Amino acid sequence: MMDVVKLLTILILLVIYSASKKSKVDAQMTVQELELAQHLIFEDISNIKRKLWIDLSSKLATLETKLEHMENNRMCNVNGNNDLRSSDKLSQDNRQNTTMATILLRSFHDEKLKLRKLNKLLQKLLTDNEELSKRFGDHDEYLTDLRAHMSIMDEFKDKDEQFNENIQQTVTDLMKSHEDLSRDVTILNDTLFVKSGENKHNVRKPVFVSEWILIRSQDPSLGERAIPHGLGEIPYKVDVQIRPTSGPNAGWIFSGDSAMQADDDLKDEVYGGVVYFYDSSNVYIMAPMIGNNFDFGRVLNTGATKNRRLGNNHQTSNEAYVRVKIWSPADFPKPDIESEWFPLDTDNSSLAYYELTHGLNEYPGFVNIQIRCTSINGDSELISEGIGSSASNRAYLNSGGVIHAFDKNKIRVWASHFHESEKYKAYNILGGFDGWNRGLLKGINANRGQFRVLVWNRLKFVDSSQNSNFEQIEENVNFPEWSPFDKFSPQTDLLSFYAQANDGLNKGFRFPGYGNSQSTGPSSFGGVMYAYNSNGDIRIWRPNPLVDGYMIHVYEPYGNGNNHQRSNNASFVSTLLRTN
Ligand SMILES: *[C@@H]1O[C@H](CO)[C@@H](O)[C@H](O)[C@H]1NC(C)=O
Ligand SMILES: *[C@@H]1O[C@H](CO)[C@@H](O)[C@H](O)[C@H]1NC(C)=O
Ligand SMILES: *[C@@H]1O[C@H](CO)[C@@H](O)[C@H](O)[C@H]1NC(C)=O
Ligand SMILES: *[C@@H]1O[C@H](CO)[C@@H](O)[C@H](O)[C@H]1NC(C)=O
Repeated sequence: MMDVVKLLTILILLVIYSASKKSKVDAQMTVQELELAQHLIFEDISNIKRKLWIDLSSKLATLETKLEHMENNRMCNVNGNNDLRSSDKLSQDNRQNTTMATILLRSFHDEKLKLRKLNKLLQKLLTDNEELSKRFGDHDEYLTDLRAHMSIMDEFKDKDEQFNENIQQTVTDLMKSHEDLSRDVTILNDTLFVKSGENKHNVRKPVFVSEWILIRSQDPSLGERAIPHGLGEIPYKVDVQIRPTSGPNAGWIFSGDSAMQADDDLKDEVYGGVVYFYDSSNVYIMAPMIGNNFDFGRVLNTGATKNRRLGNNHQTSNEAYVRVKIWSPADFPKPDIESEWFPLDTDNSSLAYYELTHGLNEYPGFVNIQIRCTSINGDSELISEGIGSSASNRAYLNSGGVIHAFDKNKIRVWASHFHESEKYKAYNILGGFDGWNRGLLKGINANRGQFRVLVWNRLKFVDSSQNSNFEQIEENVNFPEWSPFDKFSPQTDLLSFYAQANDGLNKGFRFPGYGNSQSTGPSSFGGVMYAYNSNGDIRIWRPNPLVDGYMIHVYEPYGNGNNHQRSNNASFVSTLLRTN
């Protein structure tokens, strides 16, 4: 119950703050108090999350399994006898337990929803707080509220002893408190909310969405597909979604990555994913396929091998469904920046690193980097998109990909560059094809190419009515599951996930996450892997620091050594574009 008391404290402090501003009494001091209270609130939210997602989650998982088991038994009994009386076989005891467990589970799920709402309300409140200093009106009203809060607080104190007696009681209490709180927050919000007149949507639904298509690793015929999109021009954004056919992540969606960063050289080293490239006619998707060594490539791999990635629900699968979403230039507003095509050359150190200024003075709503490679004879081209990390490094490793990250003013682009000191050239722009289906892409020269940058400022990208819920930031990166958003449509909306560096040379820069784990072999590796579902939940598999894993990882050969970094001091950021 202390959590709730602290949460109420901030409301009270807000009230005091506005009152003191009004009467010009030592406003500076109050701001500090306010900041302190805000800090406490975020701590509390973290604690509640920990309770829900770590302390309780194993109990709940057990509960869920038991329930499933009981349900199965019940079904067996019913089916076996085709006789309702068979349910008598279940003891009274058992049925009571099942009912209680069901109620508990439901409360828990409700609780997660409430927590998410509360989180959002608080974010909103803190944003509105800026408005507060300009817009507060009659402070008598606030004082009345204050008195009301005080009495609610006393009520809570009385209940303090019962609190924590058992899970169910905790859940019920929290739910009630959340209701009280959201009522209070709503009152404040009503006073503070500034209506924005604009309500036009800015990004349309994707012009092309494919069916779910079966793809299979280690299968020459189901391992690569060309999916015609019929645009006749290069899309602005391609989103490749991977849906497991079964397993602990059934119902979750993983993303395609646009580079090959692993090969088939090492025994027992599972690597994974679906990679994609495209041109003005097709999207090409490719699964792992043995080349000359081992067949450990999978279409889905969360990085359990050698404990490389931390997280729950680890899974490797040979089979999944893939869906392609395409936004044409006409579906997006005009970009704030659509750069020219700049040259990249892995043989030329001065063409391996770029720092461009977008100058928006805030995080863009969306950034896409497109990389173009052409065939030797020049009659075909292939587009890939930027990635957010170098996976791993090893002699002979056929690896590639162009890394990029952005902050409030800049975009950094790192291509791999061959060091004279290295024995073997192991990098290029797209990655090598050893260990991947490749028939569709033969003949492309991936040693050099060009890239361009597309940038949209946030208000251009997002419907202004969604702006406050567009972006979520989580500083506590130790949770394997995060619930930043409400329900959305994975078929038409666009969810993005980043690790934002909190220290070092790239402090403040956002690096896109991975859809799969491609790291193999004994070397440092990086990038945060994620999946999402339509409820707006995100599962996270982050690199294990104990085996040289880093959330931020730009290995030295990339960008000719410019701003290379290994760090685990990062926050998670996710944005959700809801198209209308
Ligand atoms: C039901 O709960 C009671 C008390 O917690 C316990 O003793 C009993 O074993 C449970 N029954 C089943 C079938 O789990
Ligand atoms: C704040 O008030 C506005 C206007 O009444 C409403 O649209 C919005 O949903 C409210 N926000 C919250 C967080 O309650
Ligand atoms: C590398 O690129 C730079 C800039 O385009 C160019 O001036 C230089 O001649 C290139 N070096 C080589 C060895 O191609
Ligand atoms: C992360 O970096 C920031 C900035 O250098 C520092 O203040 C903070 O203590 C670091 N956090 C951790 C967990 O190392």
